[in-house]
Amino acid sequence: DEYAIGLDLGGTKILAGLVNSEGQMISQAQLPTTSEDGEKAVIERVLAAIESVMSDKKVNRRRVRGVGIASAGVIDSKTNEIIFASNLGWSNVPIGKLIEDKFNLPVRLMNDANASAVAEWMWGAGKGTANMIYVTVSTGVGAGIISDGRLLSGIDGSAGEFGHISIDWNGPLCLCGNRGCLEIYSSGTAIENAARTALANGDTAISASLLHGSKELTAKQIGEAALRGDRFSIDILKRAGFYLGVGATSLIHLFNPEVIVFGGGVMNTAPIILQEIEKSVRERCIPGMASQVRIELNRLGVESGVVGAAGLLFSEWEHERKLQ
Ligand code: BGC
Ligand code: NA
Ligand code: ZN
Repeated sequence: DEYAIGLDLGGTKILAGLVNSEGQMISQAQLPTTSEDGEKAVIERVLAAIESVMSDKKVNRRRVRGVGIASAGVIDSKTNEIIFASNLGWSNVPIGKLIEDKFNLPVRLMNDANASAVAEWMWGAGKGTANMIYVTVSTGVGAGIISDGRLLSGIDGSAGEFGHISIDWNGPLCLCGNRGCLEIYSSGTAIENAARTALANGDTAISASLLHGSKELTAKQIGEAALRGDRFSIDILKRAGFYLGVGATSLIHLFNPEVIVFGGGVMNTAPIILQEIEKSVRERCIPGMASQVRIELNRLGVESGVVGAAGLLFSEWEHERKLQ
């Protein structure tokens, strides 16, 4: 059997996994990241996470054939560089080369949402379809598009920057330089900011149950409070879902998918968002286009970036073998 390492480099954590050709994660390592940690510290953790899963005693190191990196941000799939990752505060980081030099293995860099799209397509909620879109709602918002049976990558591997389509040309400035980007209204960061602003204003609509004694305010807590029936949290999440539905309507118009799969940390703690997405999609789509599309929750959860980064390697090796 052969193995690939998948690694998901996100705005809040690094998750690495040793993955087999059936898409199962044999072992994993997780480390935190924040943009304040700085590039050097985060890269060291990436290398440490890879080393950790590679040293797993269950698997002979020589059976590990490559490393797939799923990173948030704009990438160059030819040079394996991260060109611009707003949520990490990175520009032009040659992550692929650093990993290749250390481990002497082929490396494939891809966008995080594109990797998850591949995972959900091969082994999850999009299995068996030829036209599906995966949308991640996490620190940022991103998408991966499977169109006519293949991952749409564009010239650099950066197709699917869904979170940075502008839904208000006069809206607030985004970290990317554009105004009124979808992710300003609907990401985990946006949800946290909305709650924090209301807290700072002494908004009495916030029930004490939301904070549960802690000072921090995360999208996860807001999701949990919503499940406990907290009105204020429900409203914030509904608003995010409404905007995601507005965006998803454009995806449906552009790509005519069979299913849109929603995942990412926020979706997995706040299922109420999915209902709102579905509602605004059904209201807004061109007649005939929305009736066929399914709006679904992801199946692979937080592992999808890791599994998809490895999965893309497996499918490329398979393709090469067929050509030989
Ligand atoms: C980035 C995307 C990424 C998404 C989810 C966005 O801010 O621009 O590349 O896929 O966040 O991490
Ligand atoms: Na993408
Ligand atoms: Zn933006």
